[in-house]
Amino acid sequence: NELYGAGLRGVLPKVPVDFATLEARATAAMPRYVLDYVQGGCGDEHTQRWNAEAFRHWGMVPRMLVDTATRDLTTELFGLALPSPIFMAPIGVTGICTQDGHGDIAAAQASAATGVPLMLSTLSNDPMEAVAKACGDTPAFFQLYTPKDTALAESLVSRAEAAGYKAIVVTLDTWVTGWRPRDLNSGNFPQLRGHVLANYFSDPVFGKLLGHAVADDPAAAVGLWARLFGKVLTWDDLAWLRGATKLPIVLKGICHPDDAARAADAGVDAIYCSNHGGRQANGGVAAIDMLPGVVAAAGDVPVLFDSGVRSGSDVVKALAMGARAVGVGRPYLYGLALGGADGAAHVLRSILAEADLMMAVNGWPTLEAVRAAGAARQG
Ligand code: FNR
Repeated sequence: NELYGAGLRGVLPKVPVDFATLEARATAAMPRYVLDYVQGGCGDEHTQRWNAEAFRHWGMVPRMLVDTATRDLTTELFGLALPSPIFMAPIGVTGICTQDGHGDIAAAQASAATGVPLMLSTLSNDPMEAVAKACGDTPAFFQLYTPKDTALAESLVSRAEAAGYKAIVVTLDTWVTGWRPRDLNSGNFPQLRGHVLANYFSDPVFGKLLGHAVADDPAAAVGLWARLFGKVLTWDDLAWLRGATKLPIVLKGICHPDDAARAADAGVDAIYCSNHGGRQANGGVAAIDMLPGVVAAAGDVPVLFDSGVRSGSDVVKALAMGARAVGVGRPYLYGLALGGADGAAHVLRSILAEADLMMAVNGWPTLEAVRAAGAARQG
């Protein structure tokens, strides 16, 4: 209503409402190294392209004569009532997208404004405690890249718990960075370009391991971060993690149904089907094509999804295919780049507005109705 109403009054949105225009506008506005980092992926990036294109192979069939005058987009996750079924996927070095370098605070403000939860990356440029505050009443989740040093990993987890994050999301597919030609060819490693790795640099255990203040020798701090980044996790490590936190545990990066079944058996609180937006392994199948198998194998365990979500229609399809909540990644970064917190909030609202309209015109008043409608593979 807000968007259509403004359009009728001749007021155009500052940030485009669709992904193609949004990406084109952001591409023109972002410095090259930022664009390479945000838009780039692994190898020749065909997995990344498939992620988005594969949504076009799934279709849904509308129902008529159903009262959809009001729609209910609320969902539940870990006992939390969420106003909508989307969240902001974890993105490291988000500060690269904003003028002031505080992209995580801006993302948190967008979260507070929209009620869309933020999953904060370990590699945020703002300390997790400050980001949690900026999220206001909207719940937030903490994404863990598990450092090799166990005491440091436990410190990050316990800080997240103390700061009020509502779940620990462990990313499994990134103990080492994937083959990213754009960054390799340009020598562009955004993590190392002066963006403060705030969660590490503010951590007391990290400070002890460094042996002196981060400010005294920032290069040594970055070097230590790089040496500590990325423990190779195995199924055996889940017991350690369970003992390290009372928070719900989510495993991010599950695509194989057997892994989903094993994760469910291991008692995790949610399974996050994702291939990291094609940034880690090129040659993988589109994540959306793996979602139905993961959902079937997960049984009662809720499944989160991301990779290739570009619109409200993609969100609704992923929900129809069994996701409990759907992560928005690159689109909100483009929103941040074009309009800071307001730009990111606008992108999230546009996606939700399209999802809501999809439900209105297709005869699905609730998310249960969406799920019952299902999606069929075309061609
Ligand atoms: C990511 N992603 C990511 N995931 C994660 O667990 N921790 C992180 O720090 C990051 N960092 C990151 C940076 C950038 C620039 C991007 C684009 C992505 C992956 C992210 O959570 C999500 O899986 C993808 O963004 C989904 O793909 P699309 O839909 O954005 O293409």
